[in-house]
Formats: sequence, C-alpha cells, structure tokens
Amino acid sequence: MANSRRKLIFNISIGFYCSAVIQICICSQFTSSSIDQFNKDRGAFPVAINGEIFPWHELRLPTMVIPLHYDLFVHPNLTSLDFVASEKIEVLVRDATRFIILHSKDLEIMNVTLQSEEDLRYRRPGRKLTVLSYPAHEQIALLIPEKLMADLRYSVAIDFRAKLADGFEGFYKSTYRTLGGETRTIAVTDFEPTQARMAFPCFDEPLFKANFSIKIRRESRHIALSNMPKVKTIELEGGLLEDHFETTVKMSTYLVAYIVCDFNSVSGTASSGVKVSIHAAPDKWSQTHYALEASLKLLDFYENYFDIHYPLAKLDLVAIPDFESGAMENWGLVTYRETSLLFDPKTSSTSDKLWVTRVIAHELAHQWFGNLVTMEWWNDIWLNEGFATYMELISVNVTYPELQFDDDFLDMCFEVIKRDSLNSSHPLSNQAETSTHIKEMFDAVSYKKGACILNMLKDFLSEEKFKKGIIHYLKKFSYRNAKNDDLWSSLSDDCLESDSTSGGFCYSDSKTASNTLTFLRENVKVKQMMATWTLQKGIPLVVVNQEGRSLRLQQERFLNGVFKEDPEWGALQERYLWHIPVTYSTSSSNAIHRHILKSKTDTLDLPEKTSWVKFNVDSNGYYIVHYEGRGWDQLITQLNQNHTFLRPKDRISLIHDAFQLVSAGRLTLDKALDLTRYLQHETSIPALLKGLEYLELFYHITERRNVSDVTENLKHYLLQYFKPVIDMQSWCDEGSVWDRRLRAALLKLACYLNHAPCIQKATELFSQWMESSGKLNIPTDVLKIVYSVGAQTTAGWNYLLEQYKLSLSGAEKNKILYALSTSKHQEKLMKLIELGMEGKVIKTQDLAPLLHAIARNPKGQQLAWNFVKENWIHLLKKFELGSFPIRMIISGTTSHFSSKDELQEVKLFFESLKAQGSHLEIFQIVLETISKNIKWLEKNLPILRNWLLISI
Ligand code: BES
Ligand code: ZN
Repeated sequence: MANSRRKLIFNISIGFYCSAVIQICICSQFTSSSIDQFNKDRGAFPVAINGEIFPWHELRLPTMVIPLHYDLFVHPNLTSLDFVASEKIEVLVRDATRFIILHSKDLEIMNVTLQSEEDLRYRRPGRKLTVLSYPAHEQIALLIPEKLMADLRYSVAIDFRAKLADGFEGFYKSTYRTLGGETRTIAVTDFEPTQARMAFPCFDEPLFKANFSIKIRRESRHIALSNMPKVKTIELEGGLLEDHFETTVKMSTYLVAYIVCDFNSVSGTASSGVKVSIHAAPDKWSQTHYALEASLKLLDFYENYFDIHYPLAKLDLVAIPDFESGAMENWGLVTYRETSLLFDPKTSSTSDKLWVTRVIAHELAHQWFGNLVTMEWWNDIWLNEGFATYMELISVNVTYPELQFDDDFLDMCFEVIKRDSLNSSHPLSNQAETSTHIKEMFDAVSYKKGACILNMLKDFLSEEKFKKGIIHYLKKFSYRNAKNDDLWSSLSDDCLESDSTSGGFCYSDSKTASNTLTFLRENVKVKQMMATWTLQKGIPLVVVNQEGRSLRLQQERFLNGVFKEDPEWGALQERYLWHIPVTYSTSSSNAIHRHILKSKTDTLDLPEKTSWVKFNVDSNGYYIVHYEGRGWDQLITQLNQNHTFLRPKDRISLIHDAFQLVSAGRLTLDKALDLTRYLQHETSIPALLKGLEYLELFYHITERRNVSDVTENLKHYLLQYFKPVIDMQSWCDEGSVWDRRLRAALLKLACYLNHAPCIQKATELFSQWMESSGKLNIPTDVLKIVYSVGAQTTAGWNYLLEQYKLSLSGAEKNKILYALSTSKHQEKLMKLIELGMEGKVIKTQDLAPLLHAIARNPKGQQLAWNFVKENWIHLLKKFELGSFPIRMIISGTTSHFSSKDELQEVKLFFESLKAQGSHLEIFQIVLETISKNIKWLEKNLPILRNWLLISI
C-alpha cells in the first residue's frame, strides 16, 4: 500500500510531457556514434536473419533514439510454460533516423506499429513497421518508411511472445515441492546484466533509464509482484485477473522485475513508512522472520546513513527456489536464492546467519548504489558491486555488532589479494563489450577489491569526510548514471554542499580553519590517488627497511608465484606505481603515523628509537608489507614475548603477509611457520583461525599430492598443537559468534584428521539423529561435522540422501550435500553428479557448488575434473558462458592442481575450448594458479618436511 506521508523525490515522466531538464541531462551522458555510416558503406553492415542488410553493426545501441517510458503487459501461462506480452515504448528522437535499434533475444515478435505524437492526438492507428533481426548482437531493427524527426516523440507498440526460459535468465520458470509432494511452478525474472532483452524488446543498456508501467495477467490461484506497489486488480472474463502496478521511478532495464507465484509472506513497516515483506514458498514461511527483522533494521540504517529516503512505498524480498547467483537487487523486488534469505533456527548455523544478513545488507545498499545511481557502462560495475560490498561492512557493524563482521571483511580482502597478485588480474575499471565479457566483470576484483580500496580510502579521509562525499555523490547523480571519475570528484569537491564557504576556503562544521586547509590539500589528492588503484591492476608490496631512526620505504608490484630472480619479474614491474596511504605504529607508542608513498622509494624519520615498526595498521590498506633486515625477527620476537602489544588485526595481517611473501619468494616458509608458533598463546579467535587456516591448507595440499610422510607429520603436529583448545570445545551452540566459529572450525579439523574423541562424539550424535528419524535437533554449528562423519558409512550416506530429499531447509540441504560429497566412495560421488545433472533431487542451481565440493575431496578430484572435461557441452546447455556457475565449475575443479602433468592437461582442455570459440578470463587465472602451486611445492615441500621434523 502506498504511503502518502512519504515525499517522493523523483520525477516520473509519462505521456509526452517530459521536461526539457530531463532531456538535457539524458543527452549530455551519451556519446555520438557512426550513424551516417549506414548510407555510406552498406557492405560494412551485418546481414539480418531474412537476408536483408541489418542497419547497425555495433554491439552498443545507437543514441539517436532514446526510451522515456515503457508500458509493459505480460501474461505468463504456468501450465503451457510460455507468455504472451505487449509493450508501448515512448521514445524521444534526438537525431533524425529511419530505423530504431532495440535489444531482443529469443522473443517472437508478432507485430510492430509506430505512432507519432500527432497520430496519438488524432487517434490515428499506428503504422506497421518491418522488423529485422540480428541474433548475433541480440538486436532487432525497426525500419521506418519515413524518417523520424529530431526532437519529436513517438510511440512504438510491439506484440511478442516466448517460452518461459529454461535456465536462470530472462523470464524463467522455477519449481518447488510442497510438503505434500506436489511440484509447483512459478515464473520469475532475472535480468542483470543483459537479460531484460529476453523478456521484452528494450534498450537494454544501463544508461537508457526510463519509467516502466507494468501490468501482469494471472490466474486467481497466483499472485503477481513487481517493482512497484499494485494500484488495482481487474477481473477479466473467464476468471483471469490483471494486476496494474504504479509507474516506476526512472531506472535501468536490468532492474525491472516481476514474479507470478503462490507464495506466502510476512510484512512489517520501516520507520519511514516503507512496507517491507518477505515472500517464500508456503511451507517455508516459518523461515522468513529473521529476514524481516534484518531488512527492517537495515532499511532504517541506510535511509539514515545516506540521508536519502528509499523512494518506493514498498520493498519485497523473495526467496526463489531456482536462482543462479546469490541475490539480485531489482528495485523494490529483490530476489534471493533461498539460502541467502531464509533462516531456519533449527538448522541454520551462525555462519548462515551472517551470510543472510550480509546478502540483505548488500542488496539493500544497491537500492542506492546501483539503482538510484547507476554506472554508465558495465566497465565500471565495481561502482555498484564494490560499494554494495563495502556497505555490508558499514551497515552490519552497526545493525548487528554481535556478528563481528569486521574480521570477515579482512578475510575478504585477503581472498581478492590472491587473485589480484596474479598477472592475469585486471583493473577495477575494465573494458567490457560482449555479454560474456560483461558477465565476467562480476568477479572478485569488482566486488572485493572494490570494497577494500573504498575501506582504505575511508581510513585515509576519515569516516566523516568519506560519508559526506558519498552522500554528495548519491544526491548529485540520483536517477542518473555515473562513472569512476564522478565518484572521485564528489569525494574531492573542494566544497561539499554542507560546508560553508568564505574567502575562497571551505569550512566544514567540525573542523578548525587550519584543519580544513589540510583537508583541502588532501582533496586534491583523492582523484590522482584513486586512479592508481582503479586504472592499474594488481596490489603493491611495501618493502620496509629500518636503520636506526630512519625508515626506508620502497614500493613494487606484488606478484604471487613470480620471484625477483625470475627473468620475467622486471618486465612485470614496469610502469606500476601507486599512491599508497601507508600507516604504521611502533613498539614505543600506540600512535598511528600516516604518510602517502607516491614514489618508488621514500625515507621517513621515526620520532624515537624503536625495536619494531608495524605497517598497515589494522590492515585497512590494500598492500602487503615486507620487513627487510631484522624486521620480521623483531616482530616475531614481540609476538612470542607478548603478542597483545600488537593489535589483533595487525597479528592477522602479519600471518597473512608472511605466507604471501613465501609464495612470492621473499620470505622462507620456515620463517613464516616460526611466526605461527606464538599461536598457542593467541587470545584473538580470528587470529588463531588465520594461522590454523594456513596449516590446514598445507595439510590439504600434501594430502592431495599423496605426500604421506608430510601429511602424517602435519596431522600429528596439528593435533598435538591444537589439542588443548580442541578438547575444550563443547558440542553445543553456546558463546559469541567467534566462539561458535572457532568450535565449528576446530571440530571440523579434528574429525577430518580422525581424532578419536571427535569421531566418537559425532558418530554418537549421528546415530541418535537417525534413530529419531531426523527429528533430533543437533547443535547447528556442528551439524555439518556430524553429517560428514555420518556420511562415511553406506547406511549413513543413504539416509542422508533421503533426508536431503525431504528437508525444507536450504541451510540443512547445503550441509547434507557437503557431507555427501565427502564420501570416499567414487560411485557415491558419481551418483551425486548424476543427480545434479538431472536437476530433480539436486537442483541445477546447486551443481556448481557440488562439483566444487567433490573436487576438494581427494577421492573426488579426478572424478570431478574428468566429468567436466567430458560433459562440457552439457554444462554449457545449463549455464551461460561467463556466468558464475561456469566460472566456479572451471576454477573449482582445476585450481588446486599442482603438477606439471595436470597443468598440461588443463592447458590442452582450455585450448580445445578456445578452438570451439569459448574463451574466458578464468582460463588464464587457472593456468597461472596451477603454475604457482607447482612452484610453491617444488620450493617449499622440503622446507615443510624439515620444519615438521624439528617441530614434533
Ligand atoms: N547484482 C548482483 C547479482 C548479479 C551477479 C547479477 C552476477 C549479475 C551477475 C547482486 O547484487 C550480488 O552481488 N549478488 C551476490 C551476493 C552478494 C552478497 C555478494 C551474489 O549473487 O553472489
Ligand atoms: Zn551486488
């Protein structure tokens, strides 16, 4: 229901009465194209399906005609699984033209007519247009007998129909099973980045913002949802109903959404009056309550933080049974994978809760970053995704401090560093042309590096100034599009709107005049500085050399797997230079010192003599630090003497950087391992888990390679070293979030290493659970461990598979599926893959994570890889090239390889795919990763072996 109290801050334009202001702001953002070329050089143009010349040869649409408003009518039939639809697009002609180019994919266009303003005024019927189709570019051309005149508006009416799509894109079907065993179908859209064109012919580029008035016809057993609140429902002859929705705000096509389903919902009202509802399949209704609480809190938070109202009167969050990614931020109608929205207190763990909270926080942040202000083109998708990811940190820290999200954020930065320190990485702002390239842009770099450099900038500017800048950016570009540079300008604007000016200087309320001057100087730097982080790929390494009170700093490009002595190292360093806002603290004071390292080398003077310096305080910077000379030894000594002298996040970053430096050949593995020795006294759980993570990783590497002596010794070392803390763990869900995560991690490790007390307890719980016919509530944090131990017997495995079929909790199903994938029996693993390919018991949406999990199992790695090689064509029928699942399948089944033979095999496979026309960025990433693994083992296996011998 619309809330009349809310003052809408947008300007809807319907009919032919759009204001000139709107035209100007649209036009100024377009660039001109080679429009007249058509007449000059017909040979350069492609051929349409019917053999005629298609009048446009570029992937990007021309800008002579722009859309203002879409009237869209859709009637899906959930029995025949198709839809009929029609639309009227009101367009503005900017340059006279004889054709209109639109996007359209897999749609049957039945009829197209055109009316001028005059035709409409005198109610003259539309003139029928000829339609040409060029599927390679997913475009259609409407040919106009007489030229459309510049500065006039026209209305294009199109009737079309299509099947509901099979996969996860466009307007597709999704099914679910009820408790009673009935299978039901719903119809749902998922458009980002380039799939709106599968649902209706449109100008499917983010810059073509328009208003949409949507009508959905449905049966009375269903409901229809769309971006906006419903205005009315009309009853039609024959019992069908037609829902009319309010006209949307001005927005990009990829954010349009509609759903026809029979779901139930829970609703609440945010402080500002927005009605928030969570929708799910009827039997899953009981799992929707946490999402409602979280989304209300988070919506309140964002409205306050951004000082901009969420502009719609309602916000729906819907759990879709078949969903390719994690969630999608359609304006007012956010769609989620069930496991990203539903929370089942009986089976969802503390990590599951954090995930649900994060995803809601992420998608709600997009309602501002992405929906209100959209990137001009997909090359800057990081402006959407990096910001939404960064805002997860800001909002979850305030709304759910008990989830202690901070340390996870740090981990996220570490994850992308792995990727960004390979030569195959790419700049944040990167060219993207084809649909496949555009899909590939949704990667760790855009999301995680984007978020991490924003966090670094916030730390540099101060929270207050950063926040002011982003609010300025959001307000300035509302209902419009922005690019990289616009963001930096907003963050550097000499005078932000709320500052007062006098005598040519800006004075912000809380700063003294002299502070303001310093701030101004910093302002100038922002754009220059951020260009070094967004336009060049990679991550810098800061090398610190302390000599007395003098600190010599040097920056270089950090490369994982390429050593300084390698011949290619020099060339890979050329022309890389960052403006690095470094911070450091010393052994003699708690103060945080700041400096901008802009040149290759620099020298700093310490105020006093100190035994150690620690750079990158709290790990807020996106760089790795190496301490030359006695630097590392001094820090290790401090950790051993009293680790609490260093801040917890600094301890985490020391562990992280040390092991990264080992991969880059700058630190020996035994030095990094020596650093972890202090961990038995570590009081911070995230730091302890970070150390444990590396030791576990080495265990898995050697186990996969069958290096049994090292594997055995490592197992011995881990169990001996962590025994006291393992034995302290209880098998229940008590304690803080990190207590619970420590418990889950330690017991998982202990059972994996066959630690007898762990296996015994897990077996006991599993038997009790089976005896109770799955009714017994096992503590959620150990659920996955108990299932995994249970899955090791045939009876347990079969029972788990039966429970998988019955369970209504996505969180539980994920845990069961993981457990099933840890079986040591290849025929069982193969059975899982078959079920995943069939897509009934194990849904297609879960196939990629399943293959990934099987490939992590030493007994499944070869099986999963062979399967992918042999079934590539089948996999491509299920998922688009460049999509999340395809990339996950490739990297998940190959990037752990660590031998030359494996590298060769993977290379050959990729070559064959390239020969078939499939080329993905992930191929190069995988090849580099495998080469890096090979090198790591060659160098470090003997060191690891020796270190263990002296340590156990
Ligand atoms: N906008 C994306 C959804 C998306 C992903 C569209 C890939 C097109 C291609 C959405 O906001 C998103 O980022 N979803 C994430 C979840 C998030 C919490 C990291 C996802 O799907 O994994
Ligand atoms: Zn996102």
